[in-house]
Amino acid sequence: MEQRPVRTAGYCAALVLGLLGTGPAGAAAADAAPVIHPQQWPRLRAALPPDGALEARVTALLAGLSLEEKAAQLVQADIGSITPEDLRVHPLGSILNGGNSSPRDDKLAAPGEWLALADRFYDASSGTAGSPRVPVIWGTDAVHGHNNIPGATIFPHNIGLGAARDPDLIRRIGEITALEVRVTGLDWAFSPTVAVARDARWGRTYESYSEDPAVVRAYAAAMVEGLQGAPGSPNFLDAAHVLATPKHFLGDGGTQGKDQGDNPAGEKELREIDSPGYQAALGAGAQTVMASYSSWQGLKMHGNRELLTEVLKGRFAFDGFVIGDWNGHAQLPGCTPVSCAAAVNAGLDMLMAPDGWKELAANLATQAGSGEIPLSRLDDAVRRVLRVKLRAHLLSEGRPSARRYAGRWELLGAPAHRAVARQAVRESLVLLKNQNHLLPLSPKLRVLVAGDAADSIARQSGGWTINWQGTEPNQDFPHAQTLYAGIAQRVKEGGGSTELSADGQFHTRPDVAVVVFGESPYAEFEGDVKTLEYSPGDKHDLALIRRLRAQDVPVVAVFLSGRPLWVNAELNAADSFVAAWLPGPEGGGVADVLFRRPDGTVRFDFRGRLPFSWPRDVHPPGVDGRPGDAPLFALGYGLKYSDDGYLRRLPEEPAASP
Ligand code: BGC
Ligand code: BGC
Repeated sequence: MEQRPVRTAGYCAALVLGLLGTGPAGAAAADAAPVIHPQQWPRLRAALPPDGALEARVTALLAGLSLEEKAAQLVQADIGSITPEDLRVHPLGSILNGGNSSPRDDKLAAPGEWLALADRFYDASSGTAGSPRVPVIWGTDAVHGHNNIPGATIFPHNIGLGAARDPDLIRRIGEITALEVRVTGLDWAFSPTVAVARDARWGRTYESYSEDPAVVRAYAAAMVEGLQGAPGSPNFLDAAHVLATPKHFLGDGGTQGKDQGDNPAGEKELREIDSPGYQAALGAGAQTVMASYSSWQGLKMHGNRELLTEVLKGRFAFDGFVIGDWNGHAQLPGCTPVSCAAAVNAGLDMLMAPDGWKELAANLATQAGSGEIPLSRLDDAVRRVLRVKLRAHLLSEGRPSARRYAGRWELLGAPAHRAVARQAVRESLVLLKNQNHLLPLSPKLRVLVAGDAADSIARQSGGWTINWQGTEPNQDFPHAQTLYAGIAQRVKEGGGSTELSADGQFHTRPDVAVVVFGESPYAEFEGDVKTLEYSPGDKHDLALIRRLRAQDVPVVAVFLSGRPLWVNAELNAADSFVAAWLPGPEGGGVADVLFRRPDGTVRFDFRGRLPFSWPRDVHPPGVDGRPGDAPLFALGYGLKYSDDGYLRRLPEEPAASP
């Protein structure tokens, strides 16, 4: 039971589940119930000491709620499917804006519209006549800054932050994100993702800080503290902070490359690899936790009572609330988007029911009335929601627009905030090859900036940027700088010249080319891939690099990606190779590192170190029955300018499937 899982079997099982959907296969798997031994999990102390006065207020509030009002507190609707008028009639506990939802369904809605809408929902959330006022809370996927708001500061995705190995930077990013969310009147960030991704074929790998649980642990605490403030300090959840949500509990990073897939690991691996991030986040006072779409040993996490209730709320002493994922409850056997007593009974305290919220709330009330959901469970869930709302000062701080930082538009994308994002970009870059010390470059050169990602904010930002899949055009990003624009600025200051050319054809013969290429944006399952080969079947970037080299133009390859990929041929072809991950709109941070100052001194050296091991092969090590290949570059690898950046020639044929 505790031995390392045979990956082959697990991966095949995940594929089968994926093919068959969640019907009979899910139910059959659930019969062979996996076993958790709660007593083997660490016993943690609650981050906040028991508070009798707070609990008395919760009790008083709870006593004033009808069964229907209690059930409604456990439901979260998407703003695309609920209006403030609806909320007045159905006082739900919470709303969210999903990745594609925004005021008036306009992703370019002005920040003021977000705040005005927050006020309208708040005003509507007073409950029915005579009931206590329990304001609604609004959650948003602020996963790399307040990333649904054009003009807000956007940071590199987590994978790049993982390369920086800088918890203080993470804390600062959390603070800035919280403040900018507060400017628009929202209360709650669905972050940090504390997944420990182990198979880069997973489309959410870039949301993971690292495959190293120690990095995830350190960052989880720092990000939660940045978002919420330090527990026990006066700034905890004050007007400059928001609620944080470590997600997705538990084991999403072990799903073998398949989003919403199955994690076949043993209990020990779950405890020692997947759970430390939660332990740290809870230690830092995280008030909500999001359940994972994924399964553990065939059982969907939304229905895993042992882990949600006995481990998280019991052993880990979590007294906040568990939020479900987007219709995640519907994937439990016997459940639908509008009916799922099982999820609440397993330990979910709030269900994310983007569009089925009305029927779901009615059904929850009926199920609690009939005893299908024990009243004690209902009350416990509502208590948790109310406790968090009280801790977040929701009942005392007034309308969203009346709160201290609301409407301080100058804080959204403030220069000081963007400077931190730019610093994060610099720290996230990992140098993998630097033949003949080509880098750092002189800014006096004639520089060709080539590659189809060189002048694209979307390509450098990835998913979860303005919209879900991150496909917005450059003009939707006020203040942003593409990698090309950043290079052009630095080179101009230095007295050199730049030419931008996506396909690499040039008018003026360059001294050097910087080729920016890589993955196109994706989010969640849209990003799952079959192998780790970069761009199978379309090698135009490689051809471009080779053509430039054949013309005797030295090439610096800047690779944008949400994961480490097999790029042996591109590594061979380029003189220098930089893994830049998904740096986001502060593209100038790349030029800061690549170019010397005009006086020839180095402005910034590389300091990024691989957050994930870099594959030697198109198959992730240990998957598909392959032996655990040594990586091409180990976790933590990263060159400095003073290092010998020579890289021997690598094999260019992908290994055949066994
Ligand atoms: C994702 C979550 C996200 C939620 C709300 C889900 O599909 O898995 O990470 O917080 O949507 O957008
Ligand atoms: C929403 C996301 C959500 C996803 C779930 C999208 O339509 O915008 O927020 O995570 O659906 O699959």
